[in-house]
Amino acid sequence: MAHEVRGVVAREKGAPVSIETVLVPDPGPGEALVRVQACGVCHTDLHYREGAINDEFPFLLGHEAAGVVEAVGDGVGEVEPGDYVILAWRAPCGRCRSCRRGRPWHCFDSRNARQSMTLADGTPLSPALGIGAFAERTLVASGQAVKVDPAARPEAAGLVGCGVMAGLGAAMLTGNVQRGDTVAVFGCGGVGDAAVAGARIAGASKIIAIDLDPRKLEWAREFGATDTIDASTADPVEGVRALTDGNGADVCIEAVGHPEVAKQAFFARDLAGTLVQVGVPDPTMTIELPMIEFFGRGGALKPSWYGDCLPSRDFPMLIDMYLGGRLDLDRFVSETIALDEVEDAFHKMERGQVLRSVVVL
Ligand SMILES: NC(=O)c1ccc[n+]([C@@H]2O[C@H](COP(=O)([O-])OP(=O)(O)OC[C@H]3O[C@@H](n4cnc5c(N)ncnc54)[C@H](O)[C@@H]3O)[C@@H](O)[C@H]2O)c1
Ligand SMILES: [Zn+2]
Ligand SMILES: [Zn+2]
Repeated sequence: MAHEVRGVVAREKGAPVSIETVLVPDPGPGEALVRVQACGVCHTDLHYREGAINDEFPFLLGHEAAGVVEAVGDGVGEVEPGDYVILAWRAPCGRCRSCRRGRPWHCFDSRNARQSMTLADGTPLSPALGIGAFAERTLVASGQAVKVDPAARPEAAGLVGCGVMAGLGAAMLTGNVQRGDTVAVFGCGGVGDAAVAGARIAGASKIIAIDLDPRKLEWAREFGATDTIDASTADPVEGVRALTDGNGADVCIEAVGHPEVAKQAFFARDLAGTLVQVGVPDPTMTIELPMIEFFGRGGALKPSWYGDCLPSRDFPMLIDMYLGGRLDLDRFVSETIALDEVEDAFHKMERGQVLRSVVVL
């Protein structure tokens, strides 16, 4: 029997989101039904609404969530009803060519629920990142539900499911920041600030935060930025060089998703430095670079999908760090809101007023 719940749906490109009745099927084999307790508003949800990810409208938005497993289908071993979980948009299949080579963090065939959630008239919904958690209940592949310590409050824990993991992982896993490294983070929203926090945990000697909004730079300092550059008034490439003895940073992390910023991050690297691209571009964007600079600067250009994380390994670890006082997830939660305030939250995000608005259900 399908469950009738309220969910936040983007019906067409650029149009405001609406609250719709969503039908969520009971879990089939390999699936889990999760009662969502909290879900953060990530810029990727806005990218979906703007048609910048793909055009498979209508979307059921929301993908940064924590909740409780309510029911599981046949053959599910990872979780059982009552488990407190964070939802992951990567659930390695164990069978694709990447998993078979021992790289499940790049799984090319990540699992999602097989059954569709639908609108009341039966129209199938595309759940954002295979999750769709701006809803009272959602249906996922059981491997997407990662059990963590229930002592972590859902508003904070859910953020590990996307932005915090993507940013921390960009610094610690993709960028492989080492003790003593210099790091520059371009764009200090939730994802960029998590990269700042990750660089601090990894032992970076200098962490330079760059944003257009002075308020964001203040917040970045609270996460561990040692220096800041206001890109609305100063050239970030010159700024990073000036703060690194004229050399550039060892690791530059782009957390905006803009070609000009990606170029700045490319040129702000030291020789043999690493550029980590976390910001998601829209399909029309291109970057042009002198090939001699690409070659002559050496190093690595690395896109980061979800911080190269392995949710089953990394989510419980980050929650333990949070509960142990070593990772301040609460600081990412700017406000808690109701389901029908997601559209407002997008505008606040665009105006730079929040790091994360978190829907509490
Ligand atoms: N790769 C992944 O796995 C992954 C996961 C989650 C989110 N993302 C992406 O990461 C990006 C950031 O997400 P978010 O939720 O932190 O968004 P956000 O909107 O909260 O933050 C973006 C920040 O960039 C700043 N900014 C904008 N233009 C800038 C410029 N020219 N120079 C410097 N700073 C600038 C904004 O002021 C803002 O503080 C988005 O593109 C999102 O889709 C990627
Ligand atoms: Zn796989
Ligand atoms: Zn996200």
